[in-house]
Amino acid sequence: MNEQIVILDFGSQYTQVIARRVREGNVYSQILRFDTPAKQIAALQPRGIILSGSPSSVYAPNAPLPDRNIFELGLPVMGICYGVQLFAQFLGGKVERGRKREYGKGTLRIRNRRCPLFANLPRTLQVWNSHGDKLTRLPRGFKSTAVTDNSEYAAIENLKRKFFGLQFHPEVVHTPRGREIISNFVHGVCGCGRDWTMRNYIEQAVGEIRAQVGKERVILGLSGGVDSSVAAALLHKAIGARLTCIFVNNGVLRGREARIVREVFGRHFHIRLQYEDASKLFLKRLKGVTDPERKRKIIGRTFIEVFDAATKRAGQAAFLAQGTLYPDVIESVPIAGNPAALIKSHHNVGGLPKKMKFQLVEPLKRLFKDEVRQLGLELGLPREIVFRQPFPGPGLAVRILGEVTRTRLEILRNADSIVLQEMKNSGWYYKIWQSFAVLLPVRSVGVMGDERTYDYTIAIRAVESQDGMTADWVRLPYELMEKLASRIINEVKGVNRCVFDITSKPPGTIEWE
Ligand code: XMP
Repeated sequence: MNEQIVILDFGSQYTQVIARRVREGNVYSQILRFDTPAKQIAALQPRGIILSGSPSSVYAPNAPLPDRNIFELGLPVMGICYGVQLFAQFLGGKVERGRKREYGKGTLRIRNRRCPLFANLPRTLQVWNSHGDKLTRLPRGFKSTAVTDNSEYAAIENLKRKFFGLQFHPEVVHTPRGREIISNFVHGVCGCGRDWTMRNYIEQAVGEIRAQVGKERVILGLSGGVDSSVAAALLHKAIGARLTCIFVNNGVLRGREARIVREVFGRHFHIRLQYEDASKLFLKRLKGVTDPERKRKIIGRTFIEVFDAATKRAGQAAFLAQGTLYPDVIESVPIAGNPAALIKSHHNVGGLPKKMKFQLVEPLKRLFKDEVRQLGLELGLPREIVFRQPFPGPGLAVRILGEVTRTRLEILRNADSIVLQEMKNSGWYYKIWQSFAVLLPVRSVGVMGDERTYDYTIAIRAVESQDGMTADWVRLPYELMEKLASRIINEVKGVNRCVFDITSKPPGTIEWE
């Protein structure tokens, strides 16, 4: 079992960020609900506990409160923001609504440099605050170790019990040295080693997969995306030829997609790959359809049908593997003001229907995305796959506005492959969330040579995002934009105009349909 830190989630939008910061220090962390019984926590034998922030106030009627016995486990505890106020609530301090809300950047002045959280850090630090309530009397046995302009108790400690409270957020990027504070807690105070690495994980996961699967066979729907690709490579390492991957060509893939998947998985990894070319069926069903939701539904339904039939041909298998990630399984705390609880991705919900009689294998469900990428590299997957940008399940169909026809698909594929090439050549592809071409159903007049043209328009979309929930358009260099536009107009037959999309999300979405 890995050494681990338990993070109790009181509904902060940053809880997952705390977990990731801990893991970046090569220590395993788990997020549990705020009211997880102390006994259950103790059974996990964690080295320490971190209390997350919360949009709630400790004295609100429905404030999320922990089992008070967590303070009696003899474990080090670090409370962040709301976590500090919990110390006060449970250990006898006082919290009041501050006269002004402390929000945004602030300067932390460290008073007690012997506080282990501030080891090897300068006397003043830039920190990020976001709280309305304020600690006004220290709980018993606590001392203030750092102050801000607005607070005498910006950081507090009870060294004997190894309890620490931070009024600011060390986990966010706006607290530039926050990573070190967390590392000081995890390594310095809790004494954790560094056993959480993807290299170690491979060994563990292989053992777990073998134990779960036994002598049975496993089927995996391979999309070519990061998650299913890494899951495939990992499962293959564990069970070799007892894994069959099914790759469905839905007719609306990017240009080289099917080829890359067949080359990498079939020829390089020698994975049993069942290639299902259903493009004709998909395109037939999409004929005449222009409504975005209908397109999505048709593609979703047809996929299940094709996949279901393919599993029957693949032979008897007891297990279905899925590339579920940790954020998909964390039980969110539904507290008003926590956007993570409110915005649930509408994509991929449900997945495959329950009627498929398989048991599930989910070898990535303890991992965050950045860990999945690291794991992919350790397993020898090419960069091209490991750092692939997200691509929607309904593929190019939601990037062709209006009807999906073979001609339009060809135009978009050609434009899209230029965008991909140039983004990769310039290095921008790997820096941003997504970049792609969209084919608009608009034709406009142009001149090429001496001739008047009347052709389609391509929109280029490049966005920056953390998780796809919100996004901003990327300020690509003009030279790159110029190159994209001129290549697309010169090389793609049927296009005589290029526009650049400068809509953020919200109010726009990333995809056009
Ligand atoms: P939107 O367009 O909703 O997209 O802003 C947010 C992110 O999700 C991707 N996306 C999908 N991914 N199946 C997927 O697996 C889908 O049906 C789907 N639709 C959109 C989109 O590319 C963006 O990254």
